[in-house]
Amino acid sequence: MTNQLFKVKPFNQLQAEAKSDSHGFKRALSATNLITLGIGAIIGAGIFVLTGEVSANYAGPAIILSFLIAALACAAAGLCYAELTSMIPISGSAYTYAYATIGEFFGWIIGWVLIVEYLFAASTVSVGWSGYVVSLLGNMGIHFSDALTTAPIIYNDVTGAFEKSVGGIMNLPAMFIIFLVTILLVTGVKESARFNNVIVFIKLFVIITFILVGLFFMKKANWHPFIPENQGSFGKFGFSGILRGAAVIFFAYIGFDAVSTAAQESKNPQRDLPIGILGSLAICTILYILVALVLTGIVPYTQLGVPDPIAVGVDAIGVKWLSPLVKIGAVAGLSSVILVMLLGQPRIFFVMAKDGLLPPVFAKMHPKFGTPYMATIIVGVLAMVLAGLFPIGVLSKLVSLGTLLAFSSICLAILILRKKQPDTHRPFKTPWSPFIPIFGIVCCLGVTTFLNLYAWIAMGIWLCIGLVVYFSYGKNHSTLNQASLAK
Ligand code: ALA
Repeated sequence: MTNQLFKVKPFNQLQAEAKSDSHGFKRALSATNLITLGIGAIIGAGIFVLTGEVSANYAGPAIILSFLIAALACAAAGLCYAELTSMIPISGSAYTYAYATIGEFFGWIIGWVLIVEYLFAASTVSVGWSGYVVSLLGNMGIHFSDALTTAPIIYNDVTGAFEKSVGGIMNLPAMFIIFLVTILLVTGVKESARFNNVIVFIKLFVIITFILVGLFFMKKANWHPFIPENQGSFGKFGFSGILRGAAVIFFAYIGFDAVSTAAQESKNPQRDLPIGILGSLAICTILYILVALVLTGIVPYTQLGVPDPIAVGVDAIGVKWLSPLVKIGAVAGLSSVILVMLLGQPRIFFVMAKDGLLPPVFAKMHPKFGTPYMATIIVGVLAMVLAGLFPIGVLSKLVSLGTLLAFSSICLAILILRKKQPDTHRPFKTPWSPFIPIFGIVCCLGVTTFLNLYAWIAMGIWLCIGLVVYFSYGKNHSTLNQASLAK
C-alpha cells in the first residue's frame, strides 16, 4: 500500500501525453494570448475589493508593503511553475506535477486543495461582482433589498466567531453570475482568446486611467502615518498588520497558475508558458503597487473598509465620469476571473477522473457541446451555494490558504525533480535553485500562519473529507494502480 501512495505518474508517459494532442485540444494560443489569459485570471476581487479591507483593517497605507511581500512569495512560486510547465506542458496544474514527483497520494491531496483554490475563488469573486453590480444599478436608480444581496453568515473579526448577519438571507446576484457562467461553459462557449483580450483591455484601461487621474489628487497627509501604530492585537496595524495584510492580499495574485491549465492549447508551450506566467505576474504586480499608492494617497485609509474601495476613491476625488467607468471595469474584470476559475476547475477534475481518482462522471464529455459538462455543472452548483451563503472575507482567506499550500508543493516539486531527474531538458530553469524554491516554500508557508484560525480549521475538515474519498474510492480505482496490478 505504501508503494501505491508514493507511486509517481511516469515522467515519460506525461511528456508523451504532452506531445500528443490526445484530448483533442487545439493549439491556438500565442505567448501574448497566454499573458492576457493570466491577466484575465489575476486582476479581480483582490484589487477591486480586498484592498479596502486590508488598508482599513490591517495595514493602512503600508498595504503597499503587503503587496510587495505577497509578490515575493508569488514570484518564487511563479518561477517554479514556469520550470515545471516547460518540462511537463499538460493541463492539471499542481496536481499533475505533484503526482509526477512525489506520488499519487500527495498528488491527490494537492488536487483536493486546488479545489479550494479554483472553485472557492469563483465564489469569492462572484461576491465581489455582486457588490459592484448592486452599486452600479443603485446609481441607475435600481435598488435591491439587502436581504437578497447579503450573505446570511458573517465573521466577527473581534470575537473570532461566525454570526448571523443582520437581515441577510442570501446573495442572489453572486449566485446568478455563477449560474450564467456555468451555462455558458456547458454550452461550449469557448473562452476564446479574443473575448478574453477584450475584457483584459477594458480592465487594464480602467486601472491605468484610475492611476493616471488619481496621481493628480494624492495628498501627502493621507500617508501619515505610513504604518499606523498597532492597536494592541496581533495583525491590527503595525508590522504584524502588514504581514496579515500580505496574507489577505495574496488573493489578488492568484490566477497566474491558471495559465498552466492551458498548456495543451498553447502553440509553443515550452517557450510560451513561462512567458505567460511570469509576464502576467510582473505586469499585475506593477499595477497593484501603483493602485495601492494612488488609492491610499487620495483617500484616508480609514474610509476604505467598503466592498467597492476603488469606486470610493474615485468618488472622493469627485471626477464624476470616472465612477461608472471604474464600476464597469470592475464588473468586466471580475467576470473574466469567474470564467477562468470555473473553466479551470472542471479541467483539473477531468484529469483526476482520467487518472481514476474521481468517478468517470467527472470526465464525461457532452456529445454535442464537447465540454466536460457534468464536472462543470457540479462545480457550478457547489460554487453557487458557497457564493450565496458566505461573505467575501471568509471565502477569500480559505482560497488564499489553499493556494499557498499548492504553491509550496510546486516549489518542493522543483527540489525533488532536480534530484531525481537532473539531466532532463529544462526549457526554462528556475534561477538560483535551491535558494528560490526554498525561499518560496518558506514565504508561502510563512504567509499561511497569518491567516485566521477558521481558515485552518475549515481546511483541516476539507482534507479529512479528501482522505475519506481517496481511501474509499481513488486508491482502488487509480489507473496507475490497476495498470501495475495487471502486469
Ligand atoms: N486574483 C483573483 C482576484 O483577485 C482571484 O480576483
